[in-house]
Amino acid sequence: MSQYANANDSEPEATRRTASDAESSRASRGWWDRNADDYQREHGAFLGDDRFVWGPEGLDEADAALLGPAADLKGRRVLEIGAGAAQCSRWLAAQGALPVALDLSHRQLQHALRIAAEAGGAPVELVEADAGALPFRDGSFDLVCSAYGALPFVADPVRVLREVRRVLRPGGRFVFSVTHPLRWAFPDEPGPEGLSVAASYFDRTPYVEQDESGRAVYVEHHRTLGDRVRDVVAAGFRLVDLVEPEWPDWNTQEWGGWSPLRGHLIPGTAIFVCTADAAQRP
Ligand SMILES: C[S@@+](CC[C@H](N)C(=O)[O-])C[C@H]1O[C@@H](n2cnc3c(N)ncnc32)[C@H](O)[C@@H]1O
Repeated sequence: MSQYANANDSEPEATRRTASDAESSRASRGWWDRNADDYQREHGAFLGDDRFVWGPEGLDEADAALLGPAADLKGRRVLEIGAGAAQCSRWLAAQGALPVALDLSHRQLQHALRIAAEAGGAPVELVEADAGALPFRDGSFDLVCSAYGALPFVADPVRVLREVRRVLRPGGRFVFSVTHPLRWAFPDEPGPEGLSVAASYFDRTPYVEQDESGRAVYVEHHRTLGDRVRDVVAAGFRLVDLVEPEWPDWNTQEWGGWSPLRGHLIPGTAIFVCTADAAQRP
């Protein structure tokens, strides 16, 4: 299931087994620290230094306005979780927002510093932390966002969602994208072999890559679409939209198992648009 090339690791074993929150976080930190350079080299041009791309389909926040009209972002306090090299936050800063880009991986954040030094632009505050324990006061942000950050990699997504709900002000909005859950039933291959169901969509057993001692070095967690809806509601959000971006004709680029071939046939990304209604505190 891993969509990301494992360039620096010596052939870990891919399996399906349980992985705790602590084991998943430890694996993610190590994997992203080891692979950030290759990841940014491979995907940096597509992501852009200061674009806000929701996923491999290339849906751009400048067009989609899922966080609200760009003109309304000025002065908004925005938290991006699992920000990677903070490209999305850099776009938000360019709109006049006040973004904080949070990520578990030191190396990913070093790439954020590198891009800022090379490209300039409005400043973005960077925070190295786990999305499951956000180091911010209640109600600190007007908006929270995440493009494939943190949530696909954690064992306890409700813990993260509750943390996001806590740091959002009442009425605030949280928008996050993840691999479309349907993809878990198919092999993670961009070609025709990725079009035949090979596993149960209902099997929530995590995908784990482990080293020879059985230690997880990469973990992804599967939630069905219904699980994700229940998770956001359990954390005190109202789900106001579920966006499944269609593959546009202009995008000829493959990204791991995402490809024009599969993208035209089955959804690859799910984007959840949630609001933190005052009446729905968990
Ligand atoms: C696929 S990248 C997404 C970043 C960016 N939006 C992009 O498209 O490159 C996933 C990011 O989530 C981060 N991440 C994974 N688990 C996390 C956690 N528990 N807390 C915070 N960040 C986490 C990783 O370090 C990585 O930078």
